[in-house]
Amino acid sequence: MIGIKIIGLGKSIPQRCLTNDEMSTFVDTSDEWIKSRTGISKRHVAVTETVETLATMAAKEALVSANLLADAIDMVIVATVSAETTMPSTASLVARNIGANRARCFDLSAACSGFIFASEVAISMMKQSGYKNILVIGAEVLSNRLDWEDRGTCVIFGDGAGAVIYQLSQEENQILSIETGTDASGAELITLPVQAEESPFYKGKSKRPVIGMDGRKVYVFATTKVPESIEKVVTNAKLSLENIDWFILHQANSRIMDSVAQKLSVPKERFFKNIQDYGNTSAASIPMALYDASSQFKSGDQIVLSGFGAGLTWGTMLLRWS
Ligand code: COA
Repeated sequence: MIGIKIIGLGKSIPQRCLTNDEMSTFVDTSDEWIKSRTGISKRHVAVTETVETLATMAAKEALVSANLLADAIDMVIVATVSAETTMPSTASLVARNIGANRARCFDLSAACSGFIFASEVAISMMKQSGYKNILVIGAEVLSNRLDWEDRGTCVIFGDGAGAVIYQLSQEENQILSIETGTDASGAELITLPVQAEESPFYKGKSKRPVIGMDGRKVYVFATTKVPESIEKVVTNAKLSLENIDWFILHQANSRIMDSVAQKLSVPKERFFKNIQDYGNTSAASIPMALYDASSQFKSGDQIVLSGFGAGLTWGTMLLRWS
């Protein structure tokens, strides 16, 4: 058999914590509004940390937890929309920092679904090309990509990184099913432009490199598409929703998670949440939540991971923990 196991997890967050109360001293908002509309109490924001340093720290912890040397890593994929550089890739910088000298490296941009997309790519490449160990990282510093006068976005996002090491196995398979998708008709509902320099030739207008979002439309998309995707992945694995022990959704909004639980008729206690502590960390959110939830997993637990976001993208995978 050709199976895939998860052998290591890592997480990293900036030191600086920003509470709703502190935020409401310089943004026209309140702890009550943010908590009741999103479930967020605080988030961490980078002061000296970068996507590169957060991703590197998460990767180092994942290697230790996997008891693996960096030289054993065949590939590094970093899912991010906020890298400091598009060249080199953050993945190349991480590989250099941890000493993953044999690894092929690239970044992947699928916003808050990025970790699931990167996992699908990693798993396919392991099965197709026989790579043994692949490090997948979701890492973001969004706090410096926000318009801090737009209270509809700046209260939501936070910074962090999470890392997972997948290993090819002849004995065991933990990844039961995976699906990804895109509804490109909603491509401009969440945006983060890249600022271009003026040139003697280019006449296009440069847009501010800050996140823009139509929150209501994104809410409707998420609460419609995520339940469909979860049902598809669970059915593809010939299981039913009662067999799922944990639902780890992208931590975008506590109300989105509650609505998905209700639509699937699943008790909301089975939906893990750490959004209260970190806000929406985009591609980092699922591996960070997996890391935080993993201390509660029992061997044999069946776990759904589901991401959704800009693109509009979504992706869901089903794991059996061991
Ligand atoms: N503090 C206080 N008031 C705020 C506010 C804030 N941070 N942000 C918006 N408001 C106000 C608005 O100005 C509006 O006031 P008005 O009625 O006087 O015009 C009111 O609150 C309602 O605004 P609205 O945007 O309709 O709120 P909402 O209930 O839709 O909640 C979101 C806004 C962003 C929390 C919600 O739409 C959401 O979470 N959407 C999904 C976004 C998401 O998950 N994005 C990431 C996907 S990866």
